[in-house]
Amino acid sequence: MSYNLLKGKRGIIFGALNDQSIAWKVAERAVEEGATITLSNTAVAVRMGQVSELGQKLNCEVIPADATSLEDLENVFKKSMEVLGGKIDFVLHSIGMSPNVRKGRDYDDLNYDFLNKTLDISAISFHKMLQAAKKQDAIAEEGSVLALTYIAAQRTFCGYNDMADAKSLLESIARSFGYIYGRSSKVRVNTISQSPTMTTAGQGVSGMDKLFHFAEKLSPLGNADADDCANYCMVMFSDLTKKVTMQNLYHDGGFSSVGMSDDAIEVFEKGLE
Ligand SMILES: NC(=O)c1ccc[n+]([C@@H]2O[C@H](COP(=O)([O-])OP(=O)(O)OC[C@H]3O[C@@H](n4cnc5c(N)ncnc54)[C@H](O)[C@@H]3O)[C@@H](O)[C@H]2O)c1
Repeated sequence: MSYNLLKGKRGIIFGALNDQSIAWKVAERAVEEGATITLSNTAVAVRMGQVSELGQKLNCEVIPADATSLEDLENVFKKSMEVLGGKIDFVLHSIGMSPNVRKGRDYDDLNYDFLNKTLDISAISFHKMLQAAKKQDAIAEEGSVLALTYIAAQRTFCGYNDMADAKSLLESIARSFGYIYGRSSKVRVNTISQSPTMTTAGQGVSGMDKLFHFAEKLSPLGNADADDCANYCMVMFSDLTKKVTMQNLYHDGGFSSVGMSDDAIEVFEKGLE
């Protein structure tokens, strides 16, 4: 159902890989809410993934970019302004990857070149994105920028490995840049801390199945899925949240505020019997 929340707005969605991706759902919802958008992902993902199909379906341009390359990001903002016919109103950073996780390196045995890559792809890319946009004055006054994060930035979830460090840095960048961008152009910068979600990146996290069920049992509203996340993004991109900035916003069915739930205790006690 559309509420026309983004009518006339222009946006860029980074990170749609396939129809499980959170960014995929956000792109679909944004168009449904009346926005025109461009999509971006790595050249490999554009070649191998389904993002071009999404581009065709939504009638929007796909602009390849490695999010660790400032030059590529500058090009995405420049091209998007040309294609969409003006400054950008909203941006989604939905990008994450850890070579340490991929190669099965434990947190007490990290490869530091891999760690640098994890931080560059999953966190510093957000700074590069904001810097590239601000230098071109590409984001309209009162625009809204979001990145997706996970509660492992605040609490230890051992399977999350060095992605926890990346998410801490990502959230810090949202606050630091949010201050500067808010002052200069009233641009909002926030992170949404999402429930475990069954996507390609999510399934790469060690013990994801168990983590998913644990969070489901602990959260009074259950896990938020990718469609729920897309809905939340619509509100955050809309004019209804103009004064929300520099926040890490939990979108997790209440998980982040629960110590123990009846459901989880029941499962735990059954395990003890
Ligand atoms: N799935 C979860 O459980 C969960 C929970 C909380 C937060 N998140 C976050 O949501 C975001 C989106 O992940 P997802 O779960 O939709 O998985 P996904 O695998 O669909 O998306 C990750 C995207 O990152 C892109 N990417 C990787 N390296 C890149 C690079 N160098 N340049 C540009 N793009 C690159 C991939 O191509 C892919 O499209 C990530 O930041 C992830 O950490 C996911």
